[in-house]
Amino acid sequence: MTLKLLVTGAAGFIGSMLTLRLLERGDTVIGIDNHNDYYDPAIKEARLARYADHPNYTHLRIDLADRKAIEECFATHRPQRVVNLAAQAGVRYSIENPLAYINSNIVGFAHILEGCRHNGVEHLVYASSSSVYGANTTMPFSIHQNVDHPLSLYAASKKSNELMSHTYSHLYDLPTTGLRFFTVYGPWGRPDMALFKFTKAILAGEPIDVFNYGQHRRDFTYIDDIIEGMIRTLDRPASTNPNWNSDQPDPGTSKAPWRIYNIGNNQPVELMDYISSLEKALDKKADINLCPLQPGDLPNTYANVDDLVEQFDYQPATPVEEGIARFIDWYREYFQT
Ligand SMILES: NC(=O)c1ccc[n+]([C@@H]2O[C@H](COP(=O)([O-])OP(=O)(O)OC[C@H]3O[C@@H](n4cnc5c(N)ncnc54)[C@H](O)[C@@H]3O)[C@@H](O)[C@H]2O)c1
Repeated sequence: MTLKLLVTGAAGFIGSMLTLRLLERGDTVIGIDNHNDYYDPAIKEARLARYADHPNYTHLRIDLADRKAIEECFATHRPQRVVNLAAQAGVRYSIENPLAYINSNIVGFAHILEGCRHNGVEHLVYASSSSVYGANTTMPFSIHQNVDHPLSLYAASKKSNELMSHTYSHLYDLPTTGLRFFTVYGPWGRPDMALFKFTKAILAGEPIDVFNYGQHRRDFTYIDDIIEGMIRTLDRPASTNPNWNSDQPDPGTSKAPWRIYNIGNNQPVELMDYISSLEKALDKKADINLCPLQPGDLPNTYANVDDLVEQFDYQPATPVEEGIARFIDWYREYFQT
């Protein structure tokens, strides 16, 4: 059975990789992206060029915050399932430009929910983030913990998406699945993220800024593992938890068809070890500039993925050395360096 899907953020890092995978398996995809210049839009064009001409692909260069355009998109294309990946990403930028997060991640997301509600969408899958764990320090981070202490507006916008979805799942029986991604990296990645910046600086012989004096531990999750986890969850519309107890409400499930999953490598890596793997892949030493923790950043992230394993028999497992090597192969070819 093939599907007709709407993927937002289709020219983005994760959205482009997902779109390719969906087209490869025979699905029809309508992609939305506003090609904003938060980072160099040239890479968005290059990602899109990989499938723009595919007969089962339609691209719409529109903004999630444009209510009319989103309404029209749903009415014209009538997607069966929707994957919302378009968002203003980045923790640090949310301190500089908070309103971009309200427009794309809150107003835009509300338009997507409305589109799903009024057009009989079978399943909405949307990107949340490990950043929702905020001030929590109980590791590994579990979806069954409360996440009520976000440390950035980015995190608050992602937590809001989870809450907004719950109301639509409850009121309109719309199955929704939120995926909390843990630091995603790999080929076609984001130029604003550490791996990309480090690689560029090391190759240019420039110093790299390493925050929290290098004392971060992160679950770095390889892009193919994220896509595999997304495909598995997308293919099974969210269901209710029949054992959910309103006297002791489990934060990770519900009486409504609403689910949340962590998708992380479940194997946190010291940032300095991550940098060593990068130095090895580049065969060049980094000039390290140690800096304090950035406002809004989480020092450590580590995903508990038990629910993903139990319900989908899946867990990300690409080792960072392998993932970084593949990223570097791509980077050298893309930039001819
Ligand atoms: N990459 C990660 O490590 C990571 C971690 C946690 C969560 N996420 C989330 O996953 C999703 C995808 O992330 P990504 O890394 O691919 O980011 P990305 O920035 O590469 O992709 C997002 C895409 O959405 C588009 N977009 C942004 N605002 C829009 C709007 N208002 N209307 C239409 N298009 C818009 C952008 O142009 C971009 O191409 C985002 O929601 C992000 O917050 C990513």
